[in-house]
Amino acid sequence: MHLGQLPLTLLVLMLRGTSETCTSRPHINAVEGEPFFLKYCPLSPVHEPSTTKWFKASESDGKVELRSSSSPRITLHDYVLEFWPVELDDSGSYVFQRGNDTHDWKMNVIRRSKHSCFTERQVTSKTVEVGKALQVDCSHSYYQDLVHRTALYKNCEKIENNKNPSLKKNAEFKDQGYYTCMFFLHHNGKLFNVTSTYNITIVEDRSTIIPAILGPKIEHVEVELGTDVQLNCSAWLNEKDYIYWSFHRKDGQDPNEHEGEEIKIRTSEGKWHASRILRIENINKKNLNFSYNCTVSSDKGPDTKRFILLTKGRGDIPGHVFTRGMVTALVISGGILCLVIAGVIYRIDLALFYRHFTGRDETLTDGKTYDAFVSYLKGCGPAHGEERAFAVEVLPRVLEEHFGYKLCIFERDVAPGGAVVDEIHSLIEQSRRLIIVLSTSYMLNEVRYELESGLHEALVERKIKIILIEFTPVSDFTFLPQSLQLLKSHRVLKWKADKSLPYNSRFWKNLLYLMPAKTVQPRRGECEAEPVLAGSCP
Ligand SMILES: *[C@@H]1O[C@H](CO)[C@@H](O)[C@H](O)[C@H]1NC(C)=O
Ligand SMILES: *[C@@H]1O[C@H](CO)[C@@H](O)[C@H](O)[C@H]1NC(C)=O
Ligand SMILES: *[C@@H]1O[C@H](CO)[C@@H](O)[C@H](O)[C@H]1NC(C)=O
Ligand SMILES: *[C@@H]1O[C@H](CO)[C@@H](O)[C@H](O)[C@H]1NC(C)=O
Ligand SMILES: *[C@@H]1O[C@H](CO)[C@@H](O)[C@H](O)[C@H]1NC(C)=O
Ligand SMILES: *[C@@H]1O[C@H](CO)[C@@H](O)[C@H](O)[C@H]1NC(C)=O
Repeated sequence: MHLGQLPLTLLVLMLRGTSETCTSRPHINAVEGEPFFLKYCPLSPVHEPSTTKWFKASESDGKVELRSSSSPRITLHDYVLEFWPVELDDSGSYVFQRGNDTHDWKMNVIRRSKHSCFTERQVTSKTVEVGKALQVDCSHSYYQDLVHRTALYKNCEKIENNKNPSLKKNAEFKDQGYYTCMFFLHHNGKLFNVTSTYNITIVEDRSTIIPAILGPKIEHVEVELGTDVQLNCSAWLNEKDYIYWSFHRKDGQDPNEHEGEEIKIRTSEGKWHASRILRIENINKKNLNFSYNCTVSSDKGPDTKRFILLTKGRGDIPGHVFTRGMVTALVISGGILCLVIAGVIYRIDLALFYRHFTGRDETLTDGKTYDAFVSYLKGCGPAHGEERAFAVEVLPRVLEEHFGYKLCIFERDVAPGGAVVDEIHSLIEQSRRLIIVLSTSYMLNEVRYELESGLHEALVERKIKIILIEFTPVSDFTFLPQSLQLLKSHRVLKWKADKSLPYNSRFWKNLLYLMPAKTVQPRRGECEAEPVLAGSCP
């Protein structure tokens, strides 16, 4: 055994030794009042049995052989000399002899501290960096089997008391102090205690860190061909560590790739930070899909990060496709919007076209004779000449001759005389629509009966639909029966004089739309000219 093994032995003592420890140190301290032992460390395996002897050498008495009988506090077992307990006058030299081998120790018994639970000269010092693991494990490798209770003290204040107390935590500065393990053991009916004390000092982080590159281990960088890119690699590291880029290829280096200088700074907390740029100019296909590796080199082992360049939009929608898609979507939605607007504006034309296209005819099965009964202000005077002309001439010319409807115009279709009231009633019943040519004076006239009869049919029996034509602008509808005022506004058509005259005017289209669907071909013939509003009286 030589001195070089000393720290290892201490470490084993301090941590947890399961194997029995022998005493290899030549100079030994023991604490007064504690059980103590000396154990010989055999240098070579023992082959033949040989007698062992223990001696105590002192200046006054010389070399005296020790026997169990020489003191009640001494026990001998082959290689071991035990004291129960050791006392101050046990200080001195001890010799162990086996055959021709001898080993000797110099033992110094220290006076027990009166005011402390441990003896300052008998402490093991240990420094722990803040944040690192602090571990105090109370177990005694030699007396383990005899220990029945162990207490752990910090600065002589008990912090734990059980069979095997231990402390394990991340060190903080407040953890600094003396940690004493006190083992209680019985021997020959007496209670003894053995202490082992650690002087634990918490020191600052010595700032040897495990270097770490910031960010994910693999970073995909989106680039566009022909542009430049800077890959920035940065890391936390130690002062001596450094960052480098690997970008060399088997087929030689790409002249577009340039590694920058390492920039290293120390932060206010004393940590080191470094970054290094790799610049790639005028990116070409060769630069894509290639692992640019950034490595931090350190005693604590390297850390590496890979950068891989990808063209923009891979896996996502490429830019131009996206733009095209947006434009297409805008055009389509614009188109739909236009169609909707056009559909609203040309709703009537579309309905008429649809009617024409499908050839629907709702007049075939209802058994009615007329498509519409025209109710207007009768009588011929300068005040209502135009209304009459419109009802008797323009309406038939357009609806009958041009569009093939059949109208019932009382004045024209019914012979004078007879029961007027009954007749009007049955004619309205024979008609699919009631067209009322409305003017201010209309209500004052006898046509009122037609109106009321038609309204009854329309509103109560739901047999006829009413079409109101506002021939002259009617400002005040209050003279109309209330039921008529509720007529849907699209069933009220405004005659706009010359503007409404042509066959393709909005007025006629709206009127056709309100008229029943019919497939009868118009009686086209002599008069394809525009209808004329003459204002004549028979
Ligand atoms: C430990 O033993 C010593 C000596 O026998 C004694 O003076 C001391 O009080 C004991 N300590 C405890 C905590 O029992
Ligand atoms: C021990 O010493 C004696 C004489 O002193 C010698 O005869 C013997 O061989 C020695 N034994 C060993 C193991 O060296
Ligand atoms: C405990 O450790 C500190 C710091 O290392 C030291 O200053 C002190 O003297 C030590 N105490 C003993 C009793 O060894
Ligand atoms: C690289 O990144 C580090 C940390 O993010 C930053 O401090 C440094 O300024 C960057 N370098 C460049 C050239 O952008
Ligand atoms: C970077 O690292 C990866 C994986 O460790 C390796 O496959 C690749 O060849 C390296 N690239 C370079 C340029 O060294
Ligand atoms: C990039 O590499 C992956 C696999 O490593 C491969 O599937 C892919 O085709 C490569 N792309 C290009 C553009 O080389």
